[in-house]
Amino acid sequence: MDCVRAFTVLGLETSCDETAAAVVRGRTPGPGEILSNVVLSQIDEHQPYGGVVPEIAARAHVEALDAVVEQALADAGMGLADLDAVAATAGPGLIGGVMVGLTTAKALALAAGKPLIAINHLEAHALTARLTDGTEFPFLLLLISGGHCQLLAVEGVGRFRLYGATIDDAVGEAFDKTAKLLGLPYPGGPNIEALARTGNARRFPLPRPMLGRDGADFSLSGLKTAVRQIVRGENWDEAMRADLAASFQAAVLDVLIDRSASAMTRFRAEFPGAHTFVVAGGVAANSAIRNALSELCAHEGFAIKIPPPRLCTDNAAMVAWAGVEHGQLGLFDALTVAPRARWPLQDAAAGGSRIPARPKS
Ligand code: KG4
Ligand code: ZN
Repeated sequence: MDCVRAFTVLGLETSCDETAAAVVRGRTPGPGEILSNVVLSQIDEHQPYGGVVPEIAARAHVEALDAVVEQALADAGMGLADLDAVAATAGPGLIGGVMVGLTTAKALALAAGKPLIAINHLEAHALTARLTDGTEFPFLLLLISGGHCQLLAVEGVGRFRLYGATIDDAVGEAFDKTAKLLGLPYPGGPNIEALARTGNARRFPLPRPMLGRDGADFSLSGLKTAVRQIVRGENWDEAMRADLAASFQAAVLDVLIDRSASAMTRFRAEFPGAHTFVVAGGVAANSAIRNALSELCAHEGFAIKIPPPRLCTDNAAMVAWAGVEHGQLGLFDALTVAPRARWPLQDAAAGGSRIPARPKS
């Protein structure tokens, strides 16, 4: 792959509540150079509702995206003509937002005469450790975000082996729902993390679902239910909030460690000699989780790679980088590619509208 020249890609991300655009230059396997990275959060617009409202998100993307793209190009000191391709998240996510980003990318690609690359949002999270560190395949990935919670072996671009996933709530969702129960504003993750710092994690013995089970599946909804029972119980007192936040986070940590350790055993058997563990997704911004997983890796003989927090939460640099990786393999998409609300990572290779790689002249 070293013979391929570096690609410069504009990436758009609109699948949830961040309107984002970025320009990244690089070549496989990374690291890449982030020439610009603009992220406009809609948190203020969703906060009164305690969560992301899809209709509000879609409208906010429509209003903000043009200016965000202009800013990303200006920060990179580039025009559309300087790009090799335009990439956008094509799913999974809130369909209204995905449509806005993908349609805008199609228009830009068509107007500039550049190829379009449709990116799976989860693959963008998965490949971020290559953007930051040039992490070689294969690696074991723990993807923990607001909508996703899975452990997989990443063998290559579009090549994933699912080891386990949540059977109910995602980790970020559990943080957000628990935060709501504790009366903390959306998004709950960072607020729980801050409150947990001052609390006693041993005060409430919360359940650790799936602990010790075979495989690498997760279940987190019971944890949230246990929190709800405590908060609605007669002995509840607001002064206990920090202790409950700390107890909740401690339970999540134990679950993540147990499930990751189980996946490591399988990964070691299937990929002898490989020992990189990557953590991605918004929840990877949590420093208690980062520290606990670092300790696990030291104990299990894995090298840990966790992108910096601003590249763990949703951003467009990861989309642009995934575009670079696809582009280097000659994987471009037709302008007819459809947005998808659901798009499991195992199907990421099957873009549906893929234009076959052009033979090199
Ligand atoms: O990856 P992301 O930005 O969006 C999705 O693709 O879902 O992840 C957002 C999720 C939210 O649930 C948020 O509460 C959680 O990541 N999150 C955190 C922290 N920062 C963000 N969870 C725990 N601790 C944090 N510091
Ligand atoms: Zn995400």
